[in-house]
Amino acid sequence: MPSAYILGIESSCDETAAAVVRSGEQVISNVVLSQIATHRPYGGVVPELASREHLRAILPVVRTALAEAGRSYPEMDALAVTRGPGLPGALLVGISFAKALAFALGKPLIAVNHLEGHIHAVLLEERQKGNRELKFPVLALVVSGGHTHLYLAEQRGQSWSYQNIGHTRDDAAGEAFDKVAKLLGLGYPGGPIINQLAPHGDPQAVKFTFAQMKHRDRKERENGDVARPPSAGSVLHFDFSFSGIKTAVLRYLETHNMKAAVEGRRAALAKIAKPGIEDYLAVADRETLNLAASFQHAVIGDLIEKTLAAARHYNVATLFVTGGVAANSELRRRFEEQAAQEGLPVFFPSRPLSTDNAAMIAAAAYPKFLAGDFAEPELSAEAGLQLR
Ligand code: KG4
Ligand code: ZN
Repeated sequence: MPSAYILGIESSCDETAAAVVRSGEQVISNVVLSQIATHRPYGGVVPELASREHLRAILPVVRTALAEAGRSYPEMDALAVTRGPGLPGALLVGISFAKALAFALGKPLIAVNHLEGHIHAVLLEERQKGNRELKFPVLALVVSGGHTHLYLAEQRGQSWSYQNIGHTRDDAAGEAFDKVAKLLGLGYPGGPIINQLAPHGDPQAVKFTFAQMKHRDRKERENGDVARPPSAGSVLHFDFSFSGIKTAVLRYLETHNMKAAVEGRRAALAKIAKPGIEDYLAVADRETLNLAASFQHAVIGDLIEKTLAAARHYNVATLFVTGGVAANSELRRRFEEQAAQEGLPVFFPSRPLSTDNAAMIAAAAYPKFLAGDFAEPELSAEAGLQLR
């Protein structure tokens, strides 16, 4: 089969990204422009500012991706863009740009679900390493700032399908990292900061607990006679909840009189344009380091425990862990250790492809390109798009 070059475009949250990927298996270029500096003073992503920054960045980012690939627009076989989920205004910038470009070039446009993109980041890099022997069933944990979702992934011919078997009932794991870092006066985005600080604290200092949330399909329960054994088609869900731990951290700060120290730290860090690990360590006391380490340890423990329980229940052969939080060092180490104990191979994307990027969008588009599954001219943003 001849090579197909796909130009991917991603603008669902606070990264403007473009990439050229060959046949879903080789990254030719991958450009990501982060808006962290824009949003940092507000302690989180401001949707209006995100849209404005995407508008400013999209053309230069796409041009850079082509220049770094050493290719021109006419050499692209198709364009791919994130349809959702994400911030509506942010998504629309990428979609409008990709639609106009595809129309002008006379190239097909492929709409991609952002979550499918995160899953295909793993597949892309495994193929790039020459690993084509994927064992099914595959269970994928997509763990990011917006999602903590478990999917069973299946491939039939070229086409992929997904079944959701678990999700967060409230905050996503990445959102919990971001909110807890904010509560501790450490700033934004919280995940990478807590990741760096946690090794300096005691992960056993503060104990956090999580509820077990296993349940069968709602339909099954509504009709439900508890004594009746579950029917063959019934789906067991493994859900998460991360809003409780955020409240527990807040309560800890209050009962341990840490609020003044938090305010002092916030003010000190606000004066530094781009704080580094030394700056964070200089303002973080022992209690804060212990709290950050204990929080990270507990969240990761819960993610691993529930994911492995789901893996056992569905008797999966392969595990994928992907999304921004999959960049976390402790998460990778402990997932690898514990999955190995169960004889389960676990795959992560490299760190640059764990967080938002457009290479994963171009990779997820490739099977759709082969199937001729192109976007309709009315394509628009779908902020709450689900993955099936
Ligand atoms: O996938 P992503 O780039 O964007 C979304 O689709 O949400 O994920 C961003 C999230 C943020 O919440 C960020 O704090 C978290 O991923 N994150 C991390 C790390 N790097 C990014 N969380 C924990 N440890 C990290 N090293
Ligand atoms: Zn993402």
